[in-house]
Amino acid sequence: AFTVRASLGKAAGTAAVAVAASALLAGGAAMAQEVLLGANGGVLVFEPSEFTVKAGEAITFKNNAGYPHNVVFDEDEVPSGVDAAKISQEEYLNAPGETYSVTLTVPGTYGFYCEPHQGAGMVGKVTVN
Ligand code: CU
Repeated sequence: AFTVRASLGKAAGTAAVAVAASALLAGGAAMAQEVLLGANGGVLVFEPSEFTVKAGEAITFKNNAGYPHNVVFDEDEVPSGVDAAKISQEEYLNAPGETYSVTLTVPGTYGFYCEPHQGAGMVGKVTVN
């Protein structure tokens, strides 16, 4: 009985190591960029407003202050072939901490803005490489 228990324990230990290793790998491949909607203190900006991600890396926009916000990619400022409407969140994010996640796969530069606060300077740019 002892032998069985010992080998089970070893197997479980190996499995735990394998899980930890794959979690690390996944973390490297699928790192996410978080963008706050509204800075701490209430300034109406995306924070950060300019950033770079890898193609396929998730971008999560998160309501932080001064909402409602939305995230509209400018059809004139996305790589050719990209449907700006498809990657935009035109419906307002109203709730505290509400998020919108998008994954961009076509390399290039994308311009986006928040419709209610575009005039106040709530605009951003992401480079996908
Ligand atoms: Cu806004």
